[in-house]
Amino acid sequence: MAPTFQGLAFHTVTFGCQMNKHDSERMAGMLEALGAHPVGSIEDADIVVFVTCCVREAADTRLYGQVASLKNLPLRPGTPLQKRLVAVGGCIGQRDRERLCEQLPHVDAVFGTHNIGSLPQLLARAIAQGPGQVEVLEASEAFACDLPTDREHSWAAWLPIAIGCDNFCSYCIVPYVRGREKSRMLEDIVAEAEGYVAAGVREITLLGQNVNSYGRDLYGQPRFDELLDAVDATGIERLRFATSHPKDLTDGVISRFATLRSLMPALHLPVQSGSDRILQAMNRCYTAEHYRGLVRKLREARPDIALSTDVIVGFPGETEEDFEATYRLIDEVGYNQVFTFIYSRREGTPAAKLDDPTPPEVIQERFERLVDLVQRRSFELNQPYVGRTLPVLIEGASKRDSAVLAGKDPYNNTVHAPVPDGGDAEALAGTVVDVAVDQARTWYLSGEVAAAHG
Ligand code: SAH
Ligand code: SF4
Ligand code: F3S
Repeated sequence: MAPTFQGLAFHTVTFGCQMNKHDSERMAGMLEALGAHPVGSIEDADIVVFVTCCVREAADTRLYGQVASLKNLPLRPGTPLQKRLVAVGGCIGQRDRERLCEQLPHVDAVFGTHNIGSLPQLLARAIAQGPGQVEVLEASEAFACDLPTDREHSWAAWLPIAIGCDNFCSYCIVPYVRGREKSRMLEDIVAEAEGYVAAGVREITLLGQNVNSYGRDLYGQPRFDELLDAVDATGIERLRFATSHPKDLTDGVISRFATLRSLMPALHLPVQSGSDRILQAMNRCYTAEHYRGLVRKLREARPDIALSTDVIVGFPGETEEDFEATYRLIDEVGYNQVFTFIYSRREGTPAAKLDDPTPPEVIQERFERLVDLVQRRSFELNQPYVGRTLPVLIEGASKRDSAVLAGKDPYNNTVHAPVPDGGDAEALAGTVVDVAVDQARTWYLSGEVAAAHG
């Protein structure tokens, strides 16, 4: 029998990538279906669910610190429970299992990436039997797509098309905590997309660790280009996807940037390094030249495409020469956005066995040099948007100023504009407004609302 959480307040704390954000929407959907209601803070919650990430050490440390600090937090006034329930799921749950409860005995439930549907049962068991309920599966039997979802925004949806990853980049923990790549049936994905369109969703983001290999496990060959055509045909207004692996980005997919009405002119294409020696040590299976070729083809297909990427600085054995190759590539390609990371050793990955003689301060200096370049180039690349009028999908008020609207243009740029007279930022959320851009900064564009599309 399904447990009931009638009258209980819950709060989710989500770290990591969009997969986790999506999983956490499903967990919220499940708890709400069982009678619990979401609240905005841990203090006001009877149940706290951490959806965790372990891709870099900083995410680990933060999670352990934050969960430890809950131990002495007073209970919510009026709570029917004897103890605030703390659940830890996601990638750290998958990796650490019982160890988590050994270190943090006040944790009530631990679950992994393959069994988010077990959360309610684990919480019910913790209420009846006490903390330390652990259930982690080695692999998923099926896609958890029949679970209810409480989407963060009614106008936007994450749509997982594949889970797991088969690439085993030598630095990366994801294949170990998310398992092997498993694609979802094409018809099921399209049916879900049709449902979203009928419900008024304006933007769909297809999700996978490597969307370009979508379908290989199911159909013997990738069918991502076909999937893009089919989702475009549902009539969705804006279509995006993440993440792309350069080794699997085909001419077919590239050509869709020229032909598909809904496919937004923005692509996240992680490069990681500009040095062939390091790319090989990372097991990325492409060269810097191949990557440059992809960029050329993408710009031929869609000259205004906005590119973003991920870079790791300080991979074991990276020399000044390797770093300079990365620096040159980043400078040359010209990205609207670059996510820069310092290499973080992850136990259990092949790269964790490599020694690195490079002193941390040398890596830090390279990192700062790269960040300076990224900021300068982002600022420069944003200038040509000044003078253009762009359709912006409004997300609500900007974080710092409730009188300013914030949203995304087709290029995935953040755009700010003062709320028009008589308007209300929250009421405009989910609508598309034309913004005449008059200023471009490093992180965002700003301008005036020219027209609303409703
Ligand atoms: N599947 C996606 C996302 C992987 S995690 C992809 O392949 O792009 C997101 C980013 O984190 C990676 O692109 C990489 O730049 C970074 N990352 C992963 N493992 C890391 C590590 N051990 N140290 C530093 N950065 C890492
Ligand atoms: Fe990690 Fe590489 Fe898979 Fe991305 S493609 S999740 S970096 S192993
Ligand atoms: Fe982190 Fe897991 Fe995503 S380790 S990046 S939350 S797949």
